[in-house]
Order: sequence, then C-alpha cells, then structure tokens
Amino acid sequence: MLTSGHTPPVDVTRVTGREVEISGRRAIQSKTDLAGFITQASRSLAEISGFSREELVGQPHNILRHPDMPDSIYYSMWKHLQAGDEFYGFTKNRAKNGDHYWVLARFAPIRGDGGIVGYTSARFLPQRDLIEQWERLYAEMRAAERDSGFDDERRFQPALALLERHIRSSGARDLSSLVLRSRA
Ligand SMILES: Cc1cc2nc3c(=O)[nH]c(=O)nc-3n(C[C@H](O)[C@H](O)[C@H](O)COP(=O)(O)O)c2cc1C
Repeated sequence: MLTSGHTPPVDVTRVTGREVEISGRRAIQSKTDLAGFITQASRSLAEISGFSREELVGQPHNILRHPDMPDSIYYSMWKHLQAGDEFYGFTKNRAKNGDHYWVLARFAPIRGDGGIVGYTSARFLPQRDLIEQWERLYAEMRAAERDSGFDDERRFQPALALLERHIRSSGARDLSSLVLRSRA
C-alpha cells in the first residue's frame, strides 16, 4: 500500500464527533520528508489540531488522520505525489483531543537537486454546505473498501469509482477543479 505506513504516536481511532471551530482565511501549512514525516508545521496547524509544533514535527503525518477518511484517498494522494504530481482533496482531520475539522488540501512535491526531496501541503476552508456530501461519500467509500473482497491495491478501485462518479455528477472536470471551486 502506498501510504506512509508508520504507526502514529496517538490513538487515531478515538474521536468525539465534535467539530473544531476554525475562523479566518489563513493557509494551514505543513511539509514532510519523502516518507511522510512532518518537517514543518505552521502555527495555524498547531492551533487547529491542538498539537504543539514540537509535537507535530518529527511525527508521521497520519498523526492527524481521522478514521472516517477512506484509505483510497491517501492511496491516490501518494500515487500522485510519487509520480511528481499535485493532489487536491477534501480532508477530515482529527485533532489531538479527538475533535475534527474539515479542510481542502493541496499536496505537492518539493523538488530539489536530483528530484523530489519532500512534500508540502496547504489547507483552506471549504464551503460549509458541502461537508455533509463528503461525509456521506467517504462513508460509502469506506464501505466499498471493506466490501471489495481484496486486501491488496485492488480494494481501492470500487471506492475510487464512487469518487469519480461524485466528481462527474458535480459537473467538475476532475477532483482538483472540484476541490478548488469548493473554497469558502
Ligand atoms: C505533505 C503531506 C501532508 C499530509 N497531511 C495529512 C493530513 O493533514 N492529515 C492526514 O490524515 N494525512 C495527511 N497526510 C497523509 C499521511 O502521511 C498518511 O498517508 C495518511 O494519514 C494515511 O495514513 P496511513 O498511511 O497510516 O494509512 C499528508 C501527507 C503529506 C505528504
């Protein structure tokens, strides 16, 4: 599986169902090394997630993972990044205390001498009325992953087909344009 594959140092399954209130239009940023370990985190990311910047830096980025996120989204994100492409996604993240927040995220490779040296991400606030749709879609995608009958990469295909169907029914050209037009 093309994900960071590192165990986060917190119990990412503990959730409260409460949403963190986020205000303002600041970009919420972080950078990672090639394996997805956080090398930089913005003050805004620390404030929203409830982790200090010291707690974030050096940890795998799945420290912010919310169990409602389908594996196939991160599978697709890593495939894009490792191929040198950017990726846009709707992301539900878990805060340190189990609360959550929704963001739109752009993930992109950082290039240095000799190729990709790490990854960067910036997050923005989505239009509030879209969140329920994505909650529903992600629940369907997780069910499709569970029911696929495969335990290798083939298990992502039915879930990614549901994502494609959602993109088409939204009238968007692709996921990037759908995410970009969903900013608050
Ligand atoms: C630049 C960058 C930023 C990331 N930001 C997040 C994030 O905010 N939340 C998150 O759950 N995963 C994020 N990830 C993905 C994680 O590294 C990881 O793949 C994901 O949480 C799935 O966890 P798993 O690999 O344990 O399945 C990011 C990855 C990169 C490269």
